[in-house]
Order: sequence, then C-alpha cells, then structure tokens
Amino acid sequence: MNNLAIYTDNLTRTFKTVQAVDHLSLEVPRGVIFGFLGPNGAGKTTTIRLLLGLLEPTNGKAEVLGFDTRTQADEIRLRSGALLEHAGIYERLNAIDNLDYYGRIWHLPQDKRQARIKELLTHFGLWDRRQETVGKWSRGMKQKLAEARALLHHPALIFLDEPTAGLDPVSAAALRDDLAALVSREGVTVFLTTHNLAEAEKLCDLVGVIRQGQLLTVGNPAELRANTGTPRVEIVGRGFTEAVIASIRSHPEVAQVEQNENNLLVELHSAVSTAPLINLLVQAGAEVEEVRKGSASLEEVFLTLMEEEK
Ligand SMILES: Nc1ncnc2c1ncn2[C@@H]1O[C@H](COP(=O)(O)OP(=O)(O)O)[C@@H](O)[C@H]1O
Ligand SMILES: [Mg+2]
Repeated sequence: MNNLAIYTDNLTRTFKTVQAVDHLSLEVPRGVIFGFLGPNGAGKTTTIRLLLGLLEPTNGKAEVLGFDTRTQADEIRLRSGALLEHAGIYERLNAIDNLDYYGRIWHLPQDKRQARIKELLTHFGLWDRRQETVGKWSRGMKQKLAEARALLHHPALIFLDEPTAGLDPVSAAALRDDLAALVSREGVTVFLTTHNLAEAEKLCDLVGVIRQGQLLTVGNPAELRANTGTPRVEIVGRGFTEAVIASIRSHPEVAQVEQNENNLLVELHSAVSTAPLINLLVQAGAEVEEVRKGSASLEEVFLTLMEEEK
C-alpha cells in the first residue's frame, strides 16, 4: 500500500473539442482534506468522475488508494464514498430508512448498520429528527444526511463535489465543522471540490487550483499565499522625507514604495526580514512607530492565478 490516496499522471479527458481535464498530474497523500478549487467549468466534476472510474480517461492514468481507475474501479468504489451533484437521498423515506437502505447495499450486518447509523446521525445533529420524512427537510439537513450516507461504510476516502453549494452561510459552516471533526476522528481522506476560496482556506490542508482543465498550483493555503502574493510591509511613522524614501528605494529587495500621509507601503520582491529596511529608514532620519507585515489573501492569490497564463 502506498501512502498516496490519489495519484494521477497526465490524466486527460476530452469531450469533442473541450479538454475538460488536461494533463493533470496530482498527488494527494492519505489523511488530508484536499480542496480542488476552480471556477465553474474548470474540470472539477470530470476529475472526480475519472477518479471513481465512472469515466474513461482519453489519456494518462490515475490511481486511487493504489488501484488503477481503468481496471480496478470496483476496488476503488468499495473503499470510497461519494457525494456528487445528485445526492441520492430518497425524499419519501425518513433518515433512518435512507441510511438503512444504503447500509444493506454495502452488506453491513444489521447490528453494525444500526450502530453506524446512530453514530453518524448523532454526529450530524440529526438523530432527534430520524423518523421524519426527509423531503421536508432543509437543504443543509439533506446535505448532512447525504454526507452521512457517503461515510456509512467507513470509507478510506470520500469525494464531495461542491458539498456546500446552495447552502446558507450558517448551514455551510455547520457542515464544514461536522466534516472536519469527523475527518479527524476517523482519519478519512477527503477530496472536495469548491469554487469558494474561504471554504478551501478554512477546511483544507492542501489546495489544488484548476482552470480550464489545467492544474495551476498545489500547496497548503498559507504556502500558496506566500508564493504567489506580493509580500508587503506597512510602516507607520513620521519624517518620511524625499531622502528617506530614496534610501529605501535603493534597497535591492524593495520593488515599490507608496507614500501616504503617515505611512509607507513597501512592496518587496520576496518575504525578506524587515529589520534592515527599518534600520535604513531610521538612519535616514525617519521615526518608525509601527511595522505591519501583510501578504495577499487567498482570494488575491486565486485571482492572480486565474489571470496568469490566459
Ligand atoms: N458529459 C460531457 N459532455 C460534454 N462536455 C462535458 C461533459 N462533462 C463536462 N463537460 C465539459 O467539460 C468542462 C468541465 O466540466 P466540469 O468538470 O463539470 O467542470 P466543474 O465541475 O469544474 O464546473 C466544461 O466545459 C463542461 O462543459
Ligand atoms: Mg462541477
């Protein structure tokens, strides 16, 4: 058993003229929450369908939990859960019957089935509502039930395609919290897609950004910010004369200086230590009151990546 949950090598899927997934090479270690981030039409859902062996690749290959998606899809599906666009919830059944139905499909023996259903419904805060017909439930509740369904057979890996799409912010946050708690308890690997940056940042250990079928970058959210965002320093103080500004401009790491009434905004080429810059300012006669370091938000990073390579 290798330590990768997902491995793809130049995975490609073409629909007529559309390269939905274009030479995707990706590695997702076990035990992480991986966020596949990209705008609509980027190729996220197609990637999930390829990974589950529901679609044949046009080119390249993929392994999920060490199994080849072309030849061992059954092994993959046995060990994975999936929550795709159509959640597969039976609206006319109550919560227990919905899960019991899937538990039978998975051949879970009755006692194990009952225990697992109770465990998951309790975890998602649905146990008290278990006898209600789910057709009348809110979207957030249905989505939780669908996640419980995907987790029923203790999968090593779950695929969640836009799990919080269409949920109000409170339900989305609740779903994320429940999911994160469950993942840390059961050690399941999560591959989720989202076009919501804040969501990726809150929930994911590792984020891959995809646009027009191509993987633009992979990293943890903090890394992505550090590598893509321009490091910036705001220096608050007085006495920022022409001479002072000229001296700081001459520093090799300084890309740009913007002077405001009582601060300087300094853009750097890389995330260097700011101490030499402050020394320079003080020696040139400025008074420094405060130094604030900043870097781009993931949103800025995302937009930058979307702009590049167009
Ligand atoms: N079955 C299909 N037939 C033709 N084109 C498809 C099919 N499925 C997806 N596509 C196209 O592939 C691209 C990627 O789609 P998709 O994977 O659904 O993106 P995402 O999930 O990121 O929104 C889109 O241009 C979409 O129109
Ligand atoms: Mg999609």
